[in-house]
Amino acid sequence: MNRIKVDSERQTASVDPRIYGNFVEHLGRCVYGGIYDPGSPRSDADGMRLDVLEATQRLAPTQVRYPGGNFVSGYHWLDGVGPRDARPRRMELAWHTVETNQFGTNEFVQWCRRVPTEPVFCVNLGTGTIEEARDWLEYCNGTGDTHFAQLRRSHGFGEPHGIRVWDLGNEIDGDWQIGAKTAEEYGRAAVECAKLMKWTDPSIELVACGDSFARDDWNRTVLRHLNGWANYLSVHMYIGRQNRDVQAYLVESRAQIERRISRVAAQITAEELRQPIAIAFDEWGMWLGKDHGGEYTLADGLVAALYLNAFIRHASMVRMANYAQLVNVIPALSTTRDDLFLQATYFPLELFRHHNGPVALDVWCDAETFTSGDHTAPALDVTATLDPGKAQVTLNLVNLDTSEARDVSVECQHGAFKGRAMLSILACDSPDATNGFDAKDRVAVDTFALAPRPDRLTFEAPPHSLCVLRAPLDA
Ligand code: AHR
Repeated sequence: MNRIKVDSERQTASVDPRIYGNFVEHLGRCVYGGIYDPGSPRSDADGMRLDVLEATQRLAPTQVRYPGGNFVSGYHWLDGVGPRDARPRRMELAWHTVETNQFGTNEFVQWCRRVPTEPVFCVNLGTGTIEEARDWLEYCNGTGDTHFAQLRRSHGFGEPHGIRVWDLGNEIDGDWQIGAKTAEEYGRAAVECAKLMKWTDPSIELVACGDSFARDDWNRTVLRHLNGWANYLSVHMYIGRQNRDVQAYLVESRAQIERRISRVAAQITAEELRQPIAIAFDEWGMWLGKDHGGEYTLADGLVAALYLNAFIRHASMVRMANYAQLVNVIPALSTTRDDLFLQATYFPLELFRHHNGPVALDVWCDAETFTSGDHTAPALDVTATLDPGKAQVTLNLVNLDTSEARDVSVECQHGAFKGRAMLSILACDSPDATNGFDAKDRVAVDTFALAPRPDRLTFEAPPHSLCVLRAPLDA
């Protein structure tokens, strides 16, 4: 038996709802053929895909980062505003394609309003200037009688867009990035950009670009330059299965995610900061093949759940996170011209987002261990949250063991469980199961009610599964 104890008084941190964000980049068929698909029978008169919109509404991301990614380091936002027939077609050098600019700032903001979700913008610190970044902010948020605020009005948007969070560039440390820089070069450019942007709109929050591999020298240098200006340091993390067997993939992913968070948290904590800096996992996910497409397995979905558990476990430090990406590119959902299916990675995002409360609890777990090949590891990865408003505890439990189901007993240490608890399980016969256009519900969630018991709830966690338990408390 695997014993778990929850205590609603042992609260560790608030959980920022912005850990449930998502990401849309001008890459592959994420924008064109994804959220925007004129000509599809599933699109409305504005070209917005209604089935994608509906699936996004069900996911309810708190914010969506845009427009890149690597794309942004060669992107000039002015190309994507104003009359569509005057927008330039450009060579796009991050992904070697042609950018038509038929979708840009205002289309994205309008799409976000329909979800609804908060737009987060990333500025071009590759080929862009700090002035161009500032001008974009004025275009979006300006309220006065000034050029770029008036330009927005002339494009039909009288009210400011009020974009709150801005990323200062994307993966500028990487030689794959257009306009890559050294830490010193980036730090200088980013702090000058931050100054201009904060002086334009002091209410915004800024994300400094962290190192793609969390290297000490880059992160330290950037933290020192951006001290007092940035509110977040970004982490980008993708885990690929490579040639590993599925058991190794699950066990090692958990350790990899923990290592990355602990490392960046230590780098931030080591600095004497003039204002708090938190981690923004502004891109996270599982890597697919070279073209960023294909079908995710249930095991990939469980790795997504391990990330989300880690964000809750480190809730005081991880204050924002964006799953990469929403549609068609390393996606949560995939489309053709006239069809859509939900990937195995969609369901953990949906379950965590809808069922977790705003307070992280210090959960105690005495989990059985298992051995597979070279691996001996605890079978369960568990977090718990509290929703004080609903007087409800949520338990997020991943059974990493691909061979055995695990019996779980959850004890309530403060007060008592009350009424019906609900249990949602994401599982399937094989950890390699996928959904696809011809098998849309192979990987799916089942929800059950558990028999009411005040002191202890018990259930069986199937092999390679995610179980999300909601237990009302006697308030
Ligand atoms: O999400 C795909 C790409 O991965 C992004 O463009 C880049 O930021 C990261 O390397």
